[in-house]
Amino acid sequence: MSDDAAPATHFDVIVIGGGPAGYGAALYGSAAGLNIAVVEKDKVGGTCLHRGCIPAKELLETAHVYRTVSEASKFGIESSAPTIEFGTTMERKNTVVDTLFKGLSGLLKNRKVTVFAGTGTLRADRGVHVVGNDGETADITADAVILAAGSVPRSIPGFDVDGKVVLTSDEVFELTELPKKVAVIGGGAIGCEFASMLSDLGSEVTILEALPQILPGVDKDVVNTVLRSFKGRKLDVKTGVKVAGHSAGSSGTTVHVEGGDDLEVDAVVVSVGRRPLSDSLGLDGTGVTVTDRGFVEVDELCRTSVDGVWAVGDLIATPGLAHVGYAEAILVIKQLLGEEAIPVDYGKVAWCIYSKPEVAFVGLSEQAARDAGHDVVVAKHRWGGNSRALIVGDTEGVVKIIAEKREDGTGGQVLGVHMSGPWVTEQLGQAYLGVNWEATVDDIAHFIQPHPSLSETFGEAVLSLTGRSLNG
Ligand code: NAI
Repeated sequence: MSDDAAPATHFDVIVIGGGPAGYGAALYGSAAGLNIAVVEKDKVGGTCLHRGCIPAKELLETAHVYRTVSEASKFGIESSAPTIEFGTTMERKNTVVDTLFKGLSGLLKNRKVTVFAGTGTLRADRGVHVVGNDGETADITADAVILAAGSVPRSIPGFDVDGKVVLTSDEVFELTELPKKVAVIGGGAIGCEFASMLSDLGSEVTILEALPQILPGVDKDVVNTVLRSFKGRKLDVKTGVKVAGHSAGSSGTTVHVEGGDDLEVDAVVVSVGRRPLSDSLGLDGTGVTVTDRGFVEVDELCRTSVDGVWAVGDLIATPGLAHVGYAEAILVIKQLLGEEAIPVDYGKVAWCIYSKPEVAFVGLSEQAARDAGHDVVVAKHRWGGNSRALIVGDTEGVVKIIAEKREDGTGGQVLGVHMSGPWVTEQLGQAYLGVNWEATVDDIAHFIQPHPSLSETFGEAVLSLTGRSLNG
């Protein structure tokens, strides 16, 4: 069950779940000298590595390469129209995932983390019962237990996931051919990434979103740039719609839209959020409180209702992001080490969506800032004036800074930065630091941006809020 011939039965920490939050705790804790066991029923790396962030971004990169080759003649590079060998596409995705999986497994081994291959449940006495994938069982104990069992895709009534016609993100990564027509239900981060990727690879895609706006939480001006881009690429977005089920035909299916036209498609991708996997942890009778929606209840320090039991990652009601899971893991380990631990500021985490155009944001949108009672001033800068954006040939999107308004009308503290466009996911770093350090417009404008670079648009937008600018 474990890699070790005769594994120990008592550890400093047992982590149930080997995704980013779980392996994050194991790596950070073992680096500090703690003896750690991880119980994982599948492969270490979790959803992020095997069925989430990594394969999704790899396929989005394939879409990027396809676009680049398609548009190469603009640079005077002539080639025949590109075609997609979908088998090779998926093979490359698998190679990237496998390489990272081997790296992570090696890292855990080098750090002497004991990995139990099986399902762990919490016992009432705070020990952990493990049923190994090989059928063997073990009972292990620790000074602290960290629950990190993650989440799975939610479904909706009328759309039973069959892996053929009705898919979630899990099944999209296993496709053997590209569906010709696809309905994506839910226009959140997953919906927009998959819709963008499938559309760029050649599928005809329609997003069906229940709310009036796709990409919840993202500033409206940024969302509008995404909608404009999608429309230009014939990717249809229907908002404020209710889906009422589907009727499967001999090939594909018909999605019924309440008060709208039926949609005949080859595949439906359901991306309406994720559900925490608390029911697999045997928490009944342990004293650990679980909310109505299945999240393990924790305080701001990730402590559950049972002393010595902690919960992190998608299992708790915090943003479902791998990097938030890492931060929560570090927060818990620091407390176990008796060090100062600062709670995660969930309102100021980095959000990155890797669609075309990319979207990245931190802090409040203009509307959220106004709703929270701030008097705000905003700057919106487009990419058309950015030399590097023109050079790379990608000027879609906007950089928007939302700042507290000073009496003289200039910007004070930066409350939010929401952007779309070329490589904004890689550019968010300085906005993240600015918002989290509660920097003012003047603080940030003092620093210089390299020229020519995409980040000049952020610098220019901030500078314009001081009341003066170079180009804006
Ligand atoms: P989400 O909560 O971000 O978006 C789900 C969308 O589905 C919402 O817009 C919602 O209004 C809509 N919806 C719900 N029920 C619906 C219905 N019956 N019909 C039509 N629309 C409906 O969830 P998503 O996109 O599935 O992502 C799940 C989690 O994974 C999120 O926590 C997200 O943060 C995380 N994630 C983040 C990524 C990133 O940051 N790049 C990428 C992928 C996932």
